[in-house]
Amino acid sequence: MKKIKCNSYTVEVGNLELSSFPALLQESFKDVRKVIVVDENTHDSCLEYLLTAFPTLEDAEVILLPTGEENKVMEVCFQVLEALSDYEIVRSDLIITLGGGVVSDMGGFIASIYKRGLPCIHIPTSLMGMVDAAIGGKTGIDLGNFKNQIGTFYDPVAVYVDQRFLSTLPEDEWKSGFAEVLKHALIADEKEWARLIGSKQDELFSDENVKKILEKSIAVKAKVVTEDPKEKGKRKSLNFGHTIGHAIEGYYLELNPMAHGNCIALGMIAEAFLSNQKGTLPSDELNEIVQVMMALYPCPEDLLTGVGIMLEIMKNDKKNDYEGIKTCFLDKIGQCSWNHLIDENDIKAAFNYLYQSYYKN
Ligand SMILES: NC(=O)c1ccc[n+]([C@@H]2O[C@H](COP(=O)([O-])OP(=O)(O)OC[C@H]3O[C@@H](n4cnc5c(N)ncnc54)[C@H](O)[C@@H]3O)[C@@H](O)[C@H]2O)c1
Repeated sequence: MKKIKCNSYTVEVGNLELSSFPALLQESFKDVRKVIVVDENTHDSCLEYLLTAFPTLEDAEVILLPTGEENKVMEVCFQVLEALSDYEIVRSDLIITLGGGVVSDMGGFIASIYKRGLPCIHIPTSLMGMVDAAIGGKTGIDLGNFKNQIGTFYDPVAVYVDQRFLSTLPEDEWKSGFAEVLKHALIADEKEWARLIGSKQDELFSDENVKKILEKSIAVKAKVVTEDPKEKGKRKSLNFGHTIGHAIEGYYLELNPMAHGNCIALGMIAEAFLSNQKGTLPSDELNEIVQVMMALYPCPEDLLTGVGIMLEIMKNDKKNDYEGIKTCFLDKIGQCSWNHLIDENDIKAAFNYLYQSYYKN
């Protein structure tokens, strides 16, 4: 069992039955009520294992969230909060999230506000949840087109990452989570980037290698978050690809929703281009990044028609301050800097570059 310290808690990577989870349930949460939050897919694919492997959970209340980013909204939160109240859940009871990033973001948010906060354990079931969303204590829901506009910093009691849950994850969702794996390597681990892009796909996703990917990627995020839990400085490096990626995700949310990781991959191409234009990232490294992302992630053909709206979305990004739109640059592969101001012309040029990379012929 690999144990990775993250802020006030530990992320355990390995078989859930061999982790501290059963003892935690027995010792710290023996006589309290448990609420397991799932979405429709994790209800069908993951819940039965949890209920059968851990008999103390057989009386748990199960809250079923509608699947998908479009449901990561206040209206759904209200319904869950009402259900918690109807079940007479009290502040010492326990919430367990069992799902991807939508479930941990929304379940964590609800845990942080219901009765001013009750303990929460995350058991992520998607690659995105395991390497990113469930790590670091950010919770959040969307407001219209604006991603994660409402949220809290709220540390869980613990996070348990068991890669066996990935056996039912659809291929597109693997790819989505892999975008954040690539991002962690790009901002902080040059060797891991080289290892990832040098591996054949069948080797890359062998059980042994997935374990390695999880441990390395979680270690990057946990280190950054522990150094800067409230995003005053270094944590901003985790936003590489997200200034433009979140605008793409927000724009397409109501038109034709795209996986979070796909949008971040496109954002990484655009922001790598800006890094190169501003004189940091060398051109050969930019080209390498573009080739890797293009081989894995599609770009919508109508991307350029939405640039005006995406610009407006970016102006309201919660990462900005009064100075304007700010983003991260890669100084080189494996090193990132943040708080770089970019203007409308930069952003338009980045969207053009992104589009041309896919459709220049
Ligand atoms: N809080 C953070 O720091 C942070 C970081 C990164 C991403 N996020 C958020 O996470 C979300 C994206 O996460 P995601 O990609 O996991 O989205 P998701 O939760 O929507 O999961 C993706 C899909 O996979 C399904 N799924 C999950 N686990 C499964 C399993 N084991 N078997 C079968 N199906 C399974 C889900 O039902 C869903 O359909 C976004 O809302 C993003 O904003 C948050």
